[in-house]
Amino acid sequence: MAVKIVTIIGARPQIIKAAALSRAIREKFSDRIEEIIVHTGQHYDRNMSQVFIDELGIPQPDHNLNVGSASHGVQTARMIEGIEKILLDTNPDFLILYGDTNSTLAGAVAASKLHVPVVHIEAGLRSFNKSMPEEINRIVCDHASTLLFSPTKTGFNNLVREGFNPANKAPFNIDHPGIFHCGDVMYDNSLYFSEIAEKRSEVLAKYDLKNEKFLLGTIHRDNNTDDPDRLKAIFKGLLKIAKEDEIDILLPLHPRTSKKMAENLTDSLNERISKNEHIKIIEPASFLDMIALEKNAKLILTDSGGVQKESYFFQKPCIIMRPETEWVEIVENKTAIIADADEEKIFEAWKSLRTPKGMVFPPVFGDGHAAEFICNEILNASKS
Ligand code: UD1
Repeated sequence: MAVKIVTIIGARPQIIKAAALSRAIREKFSDRIEEIIVHTGQHYDRNMSQVFIDELGIPQPDHNLNVGSASHGVQTARMIEGIEKILLDTNPDFLILYGDTNSTLAGAVAASKLHVPVVHIEAGLRSFNKSMPEEINRIVCDHASTLLFSPTKTGFNNLVREGFNPANKAPFNIDHPGIFHCGDVMYDNSLYFSEIAEKRSEVLAKYDLKNEKFLLGTIHRDNNTDDPDRLKAIFKGLLKIAKEDEIDILLPLHPRTSKKMAENLTDSLNERISKNEHIKIIEPASFLDMIALEKNAKLILTDSGGVQKESYFFQKPCIIMRPETEWVEIVENKTAIIADADEEKIFEAWKSLRTPKGMVFPPVFGDGHAAEFICNEILNASKS
């Protein structure tokens, strides 16, 4: 009998990560693994959710909880309630959770209380900043999991430091979990979709962008968008770069950021941004468009964890607009600089990265087959 898994998706990056595993199941494990997909509805705008499901070829979710936006407590509680019901109805062998969002947290709480073993993909990552909701979500999920798959050696070592025993052998359970260093499912995807994006995406032509002649930026973290001083410093840093080098900066903005710019920036700053011929704000990009943009940008500025990694996959320098990162390898490798939300540091980082001499990007995110590795370990764990 096939192993039954329930997969939770909800926020944009989870849809992307889930695509890699779903593809591996369809291509190589369809006779051994049966997947039920549950969308919490955390992201609900078409361009934050459905376009990714369509483009990445994920089967339509079997259930949608439609939780939508709300405070952390309300949003998470609605998800726990919905996921609990589905777990009781479907009785799966494993619940698969990705990353660090409120959807991840809700799944971990619902499943661990029902004794459904949790598989956490992207385990062990730490920013060591517990004021981030994502850090709490990661820690809770890791400590409620039975199988933990870390994309990097650093993540694996973080788990060991928190008491996870790397010598544990199957049979695994929540008190005797198995930890694995397996590479990054997002890297699997980037390799798989890179050429497809090149052929299908029309985003470069649409915005008249030429290879290496523009910068790409994303901003969505609540500690940047919801703090007027930080949001202001980021945009002033971008304006300074645009002015100094007369280079275009394309910003596919998360809906949260567009809303918060109106609330948190002065009218005169908003006017400077909208009138600046080099700052181009567009709707959130689809996955293939984002890949095409990342591959062709000269440099990437971001507060997103996923986009930081993708900058490395596509060998682009990156300015990290956060006080810290979970992807320490890319900073250690000097291909990325942490500039926080600081106008001067953003500008200084740009000056040191704009002529990237001798930059190399050694492989730290696996071999592009992380999803297959995970499927095999799920099967091994279910046998024991
Ligand atoms: C969530 C994750 C974050 C992840 C990010 C990817 C948490 C705590 N955070 O942040 O780890 O990196 O997703 O995008 O789970 N909104 C819309 N339309 C949408 C979705 C959101 O307008 O489709 C707006 C709403 O105003 C909402 C706000 O964005 O209140 C924030 O959305 P939320 O799901 O709470 O968190 P994200 O910022 O997207």
